[in-house]
Amino acid sequence: MTTALRIHQLNKHFANGKHALRDINLEIRQGEMVALIGASGSGKSTLLRHVAGLVVADAGEGSLIEIDGCCVQQGGRVHRDIRKVRSQIGFVFQQFNLVDRLPVMANVLVGRLHRMPLWRSLTRWFNAQERAMAIEALARVGIAECHAQRASTLSGGQQQRAAIARTLVQGAKVVLADEPIASLDPESSRKVMEILTRINREDGSTVVVSLHQVDMALKYCPRVIALHQGQVVFDGAASALTPALLRELYGMQADEMLMGEPQAHAPIPLTTAPERHWPAPLAQAA
Ligand SMILES: Nc1ncnc2c1ncn2[C@@H]1O[C@H](COP(=O)(O)OP(=O)(O)O)[C@@H](O)[C@H]1O
Ligand SMILES: [Mg+2]
Repeated sequence: MTTALRIHQLNKHFANGKHALRDINLEIRQGEMVALIGASGSGKSTLLRHVAGLVVADAGEGSLIEIDGCCVQQGGRVHRDIRKVRSQIGFVFQQFNLVDRLPVMANVLVGRLHRMPLWRSLTRWFNAQERAMAIEALARVGIAECHAQRASTLSGGQQQRAAIARTLVQGAKVVLADEPIASLDPESSRKVMEILTRINREDGSTVVVSLHQVDMALKYCPRVIALHQGQVVFDGAASALTPALLRELYGMQADEMLMGEPQAHAPIPLTTAPERHWPAPLAQAA
């Protein structure tokens, strides 16, 4: 099977000196559905943003991110053909990132802009075939009837489904979803996770979804990658990630991650895991 995502020797220091990603090496095969877990501040968003080429890594020798064999960034520089690679990557954000005042259909068709001549993208003129494609994508996520509504009139769960439909019309091979259910109620969360699973199974898209809650990761993703303080501390089968192992990896923070229901506004616990650095080899599972 081909490699959809390859990350080699990735490090990131922010301007304030924060070492947010430490020696990340990962390979994700095409068609995998992978959860990226970790407590708040562990580096999940930073890692996904690097993969999308939205943030550049440290200018270290040998650092590399590739999608489908195409370079996103290398040695701290975004590749010059980043637009082409980025068109392969669908990004789903916690806060949906729709244009509130535009109809749902137009929001979804934004996913096509990279394939259009400039004049059409500037005038946002979409042809009948593109409109049909948008309706089909909206039908797949179960909200075709909402296509003419302004995005702002949709519920959070519906907005997130529209954002997923946008990645469908984009034809993204790799979908990166950064805490897509953190702002949603349990029922909407379940629907969004099921839609991501269906896209993965039916289209063979590679899905990497960051999740704060471990139970959702275990339920929907065969493979889990766990981050702690910018390091990969576990990469293996979801079935191997027991509560006992989580406590070993995260200390007190494991309890926050094991809470069943999404806690969008849960207070950050005052107690945090002791500062630990993880020697190689990492916890591995079959
Ligand atoms: N632009 C930035 N400047 C400085 N520090 C940052 C920046 N973005 C993120 N960080 C820090 O990097 C760490 C990882 O953040 P983040 O990737 O947002 O974690 P997560 O998504 O797992 O909650 C945190 O300590 C955060 O404060
Ligand atoms: Mg985050």
